[in-house]
Amino acid sequence: MKRTIAISLLSLLVTLFAGAQTAVYEDASQPLERRIDDALSRMTLQEKVGLCHAWGKFYSGGVPRLGIPGLWMSDGPHGVRAEMDWNEWRNAGWTTDSCTAFPSLTCLAATWNPQMAERYGRAIGEEAAYRGKNVLLGPGVNIYRTPLNGRNFEYMGEDPVLSATMCVPYIQGVQSQGVACCVKHYALNNQETHRWHINVECSERALRELYLPAFRAAVERGKVWSLMGAYNKIRGTHASHNAYTLNEILKKEWGFDGAVVSDWDATHNMREAALGGLDIEMGTSQRRDKGISAKDFTFDESYLGNDFLAALQRGELPESVVDEKARRVLRLIFRTAMNPNRKHGNQDYAAHSAVARQIADEGIVLLQNRKALPLKGHRLLIVGDNAVRKLTEGGGSSELKVQHETSVLAAMQAEFGADRVKFAQGYLPGRNDYEREHSVAQHVTDSLREQAVSMAREADYVIVVGGLNKNKFQDTEDADRKTYDLPFGQPELIEALARVNKNIVVVLMSGNAVAMPWADRVGAVLQAWYLGSETGPAVVDVLTGRVNPSGRLPFSIPVKLEDCAAHSFGAEAYPGDGKTVMYKEDVLVGYRWHDTKHIAPRFPFGHGLSYTTFRYGKATVQKQGDDITVTVPVKNTGSVAGKEVVQLYVGEDRPTVLRPQKELKAFQKVLIEPGETQNVTLRLTPSEDFAFYDESSRSWQANRGTYTLYIGASSGDIRQQLKFNF
Ligand code: BGC
Repeated sequence: MKRTIAISLLSLLVTLFAGAQTAVYEDASQPLERRIDDALSRMTLQEKVGLCHAWGKFYSGGVPRLGIPGLWMSDGPHGVRAEMDWNEWRNAGWTTDSCTAFPSLTCLAATWNPQMAERYGRAIGEEAAYRGKNVLLGPGVNIYRTPLNGRNFEYMGEDPVLSATMCVPYIQGVQSQGVACCVKHYALNNQETHRWHINVECSERALRELYLPAFRAAVERGKVWSLMGAYNKIRGTHASHNAYTLNEILKKEWGFDGAVVSDWDATHNMREAALGGLDIEMGTSQRRDKGISAKDFTFDESYLGNDFLAALQRGELPESVVDEKARRVLRLIFRTAMNPNRKHGNQDYAAHSAVARQIADEGIVLLQNRKALPLKGHRLLIVGDNAVRKLTEGGGSSELKVQHETSVLAAMQAEFGADRVKFAQGYLPGRNDYEREHSVAQHVTDSLREQAVSMAREADYVIVVGGLNKNKFQDTEDADRKTYDLPFGQPELIEALARVNKNIVVVLMSGNAVAMPWADRVGAVLQAWYLGSETGPAVVDVLTGRVNPSGRLPFSIPVKLEDCAAHSFGAEAYPGDGKTVMYKEDVLVGYRWHDTKHIAPRFPFGHGLSYTTFRYGKATVQKQGDDITVTVPVKNTGSVAGKEVVQLYVGEDRPTVLRPQKELKAFQKVLIEPGETQNVTLRLTPSEDFAFYDESSRSWQANRGTYTLYIGASSGDIRQQLKFNF
């Protein structure tokens, strides 16, 4: 008995002692920075180095001895990617890793609705948390500079204010689950051609005014916890270890306290990586400089692995260099993997599909409508490969293994009955492959077209579901598109169909603008992006009028490629000479170019039609301290409820430097019932919203003088202009 009591007392003491010994770094009630100091003070040099590089394809190091876990990462940005092999680009073959595919980020941007971005982020964050992920590799916020860029579908369009406004709630939504976003690809990764080494030369103004604001908003407003460096070079140095953009701008100027992650295989030099602002090296899979091939490579051989350790041990680099990195990585680990408030998340496919559908419904853009839509006929013919194709596959790292993906054909047949909805293939894109291009014999293309044309004669409506498809050269990583035209004989197909049927509706799936020389010959055109799991239902919602379209273009659609700024300066400006690309259009990207140079696009930035009409009343401006408020009454003059996106652009009347005619500074999406009028309010802060980046003083400057405020339904549909003296 006595012995038992003694043993219990002893074990109690041990427990109490152990409790008192809980290390500060483990104690989530302690301030974050104290926990980091404590963890660092316990770590060996080698352990600190271990935090700075990958230990697997999508896993970076922790401190096993101290029970500090590493970070599980996943692509991003449209769904949580399938599990991959430890060090291969191959699916691991799990059966529990199917996801909900959300619409591509271009579609999200096209909603012009920050609430949608928050819902998107929260839902994808829930799936990421459930799958045990700590870092979601997205969102992508590179500016849309050319419609040929293979990855534009992963980004949020051509305007810095739109992409900044939309990325912040996405990040907040994901991070509310205790999962970090890794905003990418910082910076100037605006083309895939030569992406591994192309050196981008662009003015400081264009950098600050166009290419950086979304990243800055992600950091300052979104409080993003990690950021991915890009593949390309910036002013001669690789972006993933570029001291100017990472140390000077990101960390010093913007106060970013998270970790910089390299893009996969974007690290090229130990010293640059050590000193150039990189914190976690990912994806290095061989060391050509040391003759280590992929099959012999181990993760210690990363640039920030053994080489880094040796340089620290020899005193060639001060220990403060690794401390600084380890500190950032620990911060990221404490915010995610060791966050006691981290959510367990869920894989509620039904709830997440509902979110995906809502975003798709709001993001589809009705580009043109000659009374063709909503559908009224009975005999419907669907034509085109994208009506039956899985568009969540392909494209590169954003590929998804989906729990379901409902095609347009399946959704149309479910809606109208299989007997009323016929299908013709129309064109063939060649084998499904995003690494190689496969051709199709001309006689096959011809006979598919003829078959579709003969079926079109019997239909009330012909709905062509085409566009690009994430195969090689058709919206995919590592390869830009080769031309601006629709591929696989689609232009000829559309023209031929239009000759026999006047109710042609073209549904374009793509993340990019395409040439539409046939636009005048068809009844309606929908821009339907890549919509993910709920593709078919969302397209049917809009075609039938169950949903009144309210998406607006996040980029301009030029008539021809040469009308696009980057393409009007020849190969030097795109794609460059293989070594360097010069952003000669400077600050005139997208509508900034079209407006300033008076080159009318086919469809302007911000454009999108509705099944109702809106009338703008007289706007008023009020000054409140340093801010101004613009109020405009907008009336729904049609017979169905609809959402209008009121856009406010600003231009300086007599600028002292080259400035765009006008730039988007605020917007508001509102739901208005038929006959109802709503007062829409837009706010500006002149000292910021009127400013340009002054290269000589290296600061933002707003000149005193007169500015024009343009209020409109798109950059090409300005309903009112007001003068404002600043
Ligand atoms: C892409 C990144 C992606 C990473 C991991 C890279 O090739 O550029 O966007 O997150 O691979 O899959």
